[in-house]
Amino acid sequence: MAAKNISITVKIWRQANETAKGCLETYALKEISTDMSFLEMLDVLNEQLTLAGKDPVVFDHDCREGICGMCGAVVDGIAHGPERGTTLCQLHMRHFKDGQVICIEPFRAKAFPLVRDLMVDRSAFDRIIQAGGFVSMNTGSAPDANTVSVPQQQAEQAMDAAACIGCGACVASCPNAAAMLFTSAKISQLPLCPKGDLNGNVGPCPW
Ligand code: FES
Repeated sequence: MAAKNISITVKIWRQANETAKGCLETYALKEISTDMSFLEMLDVLNEQLTLAGKDPVVFDHDCREGICGMCGAVVDGIAHGPERGTTLCQLHMRHFKDGQVICIEPFRAKAFPLVRDLMVDRSAFDRIIQAGGFVSMNTGSAPDANTVSVPQQQAEQAMDAAACIGCGACVASCPNAAAMLFTSAKISQLPLCPKGDLNGNVGPCPW
């Protein structure tokens, strides 16, 4: 589909910190290419805000390739926006219409305290991981590059469960803000990965 430019209006949640009062602020954007990703559209907005001497919108992102799980916001009431199986960084502006008004809010869950604007603290996920496992380090020489720590089929099963990239959209979408999807994905993934025993030997998890 050939790219075209659209004009949109975005209503974005602005909040200076966890305890400050927040509100939706409205911004008009012109000449947004339909080839842009949603985050690139926010980059354009932030450039405009910065040039106008205003604070840019704070939002999480890292890989912008749909693999790291860092990005995320609620777009028109849906975590990561309207496209199924698509992270915010992989959502493209071609899915929006010229003249559309788009509402953008942070993931809302008590376990994800708001840091600023669209950025939330998802370290609760780190604590879930920390609570359920251990790491042992064999500080000897590096293992052979062709060492097979776990059988191939087991590694593939772990990779299937690793499809959960820990973005937190399940928490933001759940009426109870539960992290059961994330937790079950990690319980399925991590025990299949190589684990060290207390003697420093690395092999399949003994659980
Ligand atoms: S920025 Fe990495 S998944 Fe979106």
